[in-house]
Amino acid sequence: CFILLTVLNKISLIADLQGLEQAGVLSLCVGSEDRTPKKRFSELQNERREQAQRTVLIHCPNKINEKKFLKFLSQHGPINTHFFYESFGLYAVVEFCQKESVTSLQNITRTPSLGPEAAIPFKSRYFNLKLRNSVNQTSELSSIQCSNQSSPSSKKLYQLLCCAESVDDQLNTLLREFQLTEENTRLRYLTCSLIEDVAAAYFPDCAVRPFGSSVNSFGKLGCDLDMFLDLDEIGKFTAQKTSGNFLMEFQVKNVPSERVATQKILSVIGECLDQFGPGCVGVQRILNARCPLVRFSHQASGFQCDLTANNRIALKSSELLYMYGALDSRVRALVFSVRCWARAHSLTSSIPGAWITNFSLTMMVIFFLQRRSPPILPTLDYLKTLADAEDKCIIEGHNCTFVRDLNRIKPSGNTETLELLLKEFFEYFGNFAFNKNSINIRQGREQNKPESSPLHIQNPFETSLNISKNVSQSQLQKFVDLARESAWILHQEGKDRPSPSSNQPWGLAALLLPSVTNNVPLSKKKKKPASERIKNLLDSIKSSGAENSIATNGR
Ligand code: CTP
Ligand code: MG
Repeated sequence: CFILLTVLNKISLIADLQGLEQAGVLSLCVGSEDRTPKKRFSELQNERREQAQRTVLIHCPNKINEKKFLKFLSQHGPINTHFFYESFGLYAVVEFCQKESVTSLQNITRTPSLGPEAAIPFKSRYFNLKLRNSVNQTSELSSIQCSNQSSPSSKKLYQLLCCAESVDDQLNTLLREFQLTEENTRLRYLTCSLIEDVAAAYFPDCAVRPFGSSVNSFGKLGCDLDMFLDLDEIGKFTAQKTSGNFLMEFQVKNVPSERVATQKILSVIGECLDQFGPGCVGVQRILNARCPLVRFSHQASGFQCDLTANNRIALKSSELLYMYGALDSRVRALVFSVRCWARAHSLTSSIPGAWITNFSLTMMVIFFLQRRSPPILPTLDYLKTLADAEDKCIIEGHNCTFVRDLNRIKPSGNTETLELLLKEFFEYFGNFAFNKNSINIRQGREQNKPESSPLHIQNPFETSLNISKNVSQSQLQKFVDLARESAWILHQEGKDRPSPSSNQPWGLAALLLPSVTNNVPLSKKKKKPASERIKNLLDSIKSSGAENSIATNGR
């Protein structure tokens, strides 16, 4: 079973690298400090959501005249922006300037008649465009520019990394190639908005909000789309309207607990997506999980979606990660490289199991950057002290308060290079006392582990939870061994780097690409020291000068 999972893991990685998955770019600056005022997370979320509500998704015939297509749609109102992409067919994402245009388009759209089959007449914003007179139109075809949503192939990535000027340049290149594109980001918000339309049939004022790596700025090409059904707006609306001596309440059905309510709501919405949701396939209702969810594939966008409900804390932790990602340009570059490194070595997987998750790895990088001297990132407790009354946020009894205005946080004075940080990251965690210490980004220092899980990373808001409870001792050991090995490789490389023209994998390429590590000459491979020898080497490096107060335990 383990071998099968490992093979699946490898296949999935190759799929990643070959660009079979969808891509995406957020407009955060890479490689240099961006001093322009940064938008608040909530502002960005609201803008994106509103934009998505004015947007439609159209499955187009493969041969289409773009000009005529846009002219046809403009009859319903001006178009703000559009793009095409390919995913088992040609698709267009069209954002109108006004929401009314969408209704106008829906009003002239018919439900297809399918011969012996019957269509469920669900009027969504996902359309199918047919050509009335294909002969006339094909004579006027101009080639359509499709937005490239694929990640680079492993070959291209290898070339890009090998051609880079420095390890820093390699990390920034990897970030540029793997981060979500503007178009992919739009498609993610649009997909949530389309699901919101389905959920709104039951709960008219609901919102379906993306969270996790789609919005926290750490999303890599092809990452899943986490979304949650937010019913809080409904309650708020009612509260605002309340005045005078009377209080109106809806007659409702009661259930034993919040969890049961969530299960019931997700159960019907899952059923609805399955039966009527255009393009929603493989719907699974996983309602007995700690956090009940509906999992499905959205065919047109190619996203694997996880829909939860009542998950505001996760949105808050996405906001926190977004802030950390925006505070210093090195953060995202480092997180992307560590995530890719972990994937390349099958430390992470798209299949749930005893592996480390990307979320845990991100927390580890943040923690490591809090531990630098001077720190590159502030602790969560410090961000809490900067909060004002408006930032106050208590969710289900958990204090989730922190400053939300990025411009109020002073940039770090730390000027360490990405190369040094990557090497030190591997050294730090190659020697971390996982057996007794917990990782805690709230305080930015190790804590005694409150329970015996091999890896303990405190959930920043639900502080009694361990976000890496699933990780087994053997997976943790694999992480530690690979971290030590990678630190050693980078250290050796620093002394004796192959010239870029030699076509030898170097720096990040030497650590990352499975095809590359497989290409290392056998003679070199055999020389690779075993984990314990690497550990000893690292210790000797440290004792010969480098100051390190951390590497004392967990060997
Ligand atoms: N989450 C959490 N505790 C966990 C796992 C997840 O709070 N033990 C929250 C985090 O906010 C996380 C989100 O749920 O960002 C989505 O989880 P997941 O999809 O596993 O992680 P992502 O950060 O989205 O990373 P990936 O790109 O691997 O999907
Ligand atoms: Mg995710």
